[in-house]
Amino acid sequence: MSSASTPNWHTAWLLEQAEVVAAYLKIPTGHVSSSDAYIIMVVPEACVLSAIVYVVLRILVRIVTQTTRWVVVAVRTRQIPSVPYEENYGNDDPLSMLMGFLDRTVVVPLLGQALILARGCPWEHMYRWVTDKSLVKCRVLHRTGIIVGDPKGLKRVFQTGYKLYDKDLDFSYGPFLPILGTGLVTANGKHWQKQRLLMAPALRIDMLDDILPIAKKAADRLAVKLKEVKSAKVAVDIEEEFRLLTLQVIGEAILSLGPDECDDVFPSLYLPVMEESNKRVLAPWRYVYPLETFKYNARVHKLDSFIKSIIRQRRKERKEQGDGYQKKDVLDTILDSVDREQITWNAAAETQLCYEIKTFLLAGHETSAAMLTWTVYELARGDSKALERVRQEARKNIGTPLRREEVEKMEWTLSCLKESLRKYSVVPVVTRDLNKDDELCGEKLPRGSWIICHLQRVHHLYKDPLEWKPDRFMPGGEYESFSDDIRPYMFVPFIQGPRNCLGQYFALIEARVVLGSLCEAFSFSLVDPKTQGVTHPTVIPVGPVGGMHVYVD
Ligand code: HEM
Repeated sequence: MSSASTPNWHTAWLLEQAEVVAAYLKIPTGHVSSSDAYIIMVVPEACVLSAIVYVVLRILVRIVTQTTRWVVVAVRTRQIPSVPYEENYGNDDPLSMLMGFLDRTVVVPLLGQALILARGCPWEHMYRWVTDKSLVKCRVLHRTGIIVGDPKGLKRVFQTGYKLYDKDLDFSYGPFLPILGTGLVTANGKHWQKQRLLMAPALRIDMLDDILPIAKKAADRLAVKLKEVKSAKVAVDIEEEFRLLTLQVIGEAILSLGPDECDDVFPSLYLPVMEESNKRVLAPWRYVYPLETFKYNARVHKLDSFIKSIIRQRRKERKEQGDGYQKKDVLDTILDSVDREQITWNAAAETQLCYEIKTFLLAGHETSAAMLTWTVYELARGDSKALERVRQEARKNIGTPLRREEVEKMEWTLSCLKESLRKYSVVPVVTRDLNKDDELCGEKLPRGSWIICHLQRVHHLYKDPLEWKPDRFMPGGEYESFSDDIRPYMFVPFIQGPRNCLGQYFALIEARVVLGSLCEAFSFSLVDPKTQGVTHPTVIPVGPVGGMHVYVD
């Protein structure tokens, strides 16, 4: 087709451009009309332009709504006591005073407490701020954070008002989302409720009998390693050993992986991803490191493929063997729930299950390893009576066959583990986003407030909080002396309420078997008591700086 009338300059320009496109599409020259030219040139341009305008508008709307929300939250929380300005940097010399002045006049008004938190240990700063108060307000760049250091406040967040307090997916869990995705730890609202119902039976206390032999075998494997260095004054990093052990236990309990398979797959795929995620919490600019990001994504992809292939294989076996199928592990219990609830099985369901499994792996090993490490540290540095009591309980209750009722009688060992969780608060803070206005510790808080629950602060409301005294958790101990309404919120390593840790019984039963078995055969001493035992300032779960090197006797 050719154009009949003389086109204006714009149409002529379009025709010229359209001819170029037409030549590229192998349409003979002169066959493009002005209406064709409009279709070829204007429609795609208009589409691209509209898409750009749409994206820009959405970004603008988000910026405006977010900024309005931040301002509203800041204004509506003005009555809450704020963090006092850091007066100086600890000295009265001119440089420190100048830094203090700049902090007060420029840095804090602009960035809030962001720089202060970036210097040193964030939860230790917050601990200092919330001491002697129930609530204190801080600001990290644009976000107004309300630090809660009071058991009654925790009761509101974890129990009576839990539906108002969503998981904070931006700051705390953001860097872990490639692993946790929409799994239990990071799920909110109805999705969380559905998943919790589906997952809870797998870790119910009466389902944990299978964990006992798995934990015992893992402890025995470690004992073989430790025997080789017994009385030889060879330093062993017991933290690293516990990390491998708890990963093997969770790998076998959940996916029936053998120890070698766990040692092969996890250190190369899972642990580096976790390490990078941890770094990103305090150094978000690492998201744009191209090489690191490429390696990170590739590892997450490989780990997902590995887990999904196990799920597929398992579903196949279950289908083929029908009623004769013998349940193996936690994965089977979850697949039973999936069948019972008649969940439609498709790619989305498979991805969700993959997230849940990665969640169990993440939630279930480093925390347990940190608890065991701090307990061995305290047993190694304290008087030998505490260790002797663990040993006696182990001799009495860890036998063959290993029975849960017997292990549950190891009250002293359990108190040692609980006291380590209290003193060291391996998860020192958990954070939430308030999704509706609420009242907390007598203060009105607006929707959008960022709630920082300071578990460590509450754990240090005990007498002589820095002393390790397992008696606190024995019958008639200090824990029982708290009044009924606050007692459950005075010990919150696994938090409390409907969103409490699903794996707490798993962790405590596993740890009693492992600690008991090792203490029965060995005693431990610190390689360098003067320098060891410093808590890590930036990584949660909180372990010791530089590992935990011990001699084994
Ligand atoms: C000493 C060991 C452990 C400690 C200190 C611990 C601590 C915690 C804490 C503090 C939370 C709440 C997180 C939050 O509210 O943001 C949590 C949640 C959770 N933990 Fe644990 N955990 C431990 C072991 C385990 C184990 C062994 C597993 C799995 C086998 C596990 C699975 C989970 C899951 C699935 C949740 C999410 C529950 C929900 O939101 O419904 N944890 N844990």
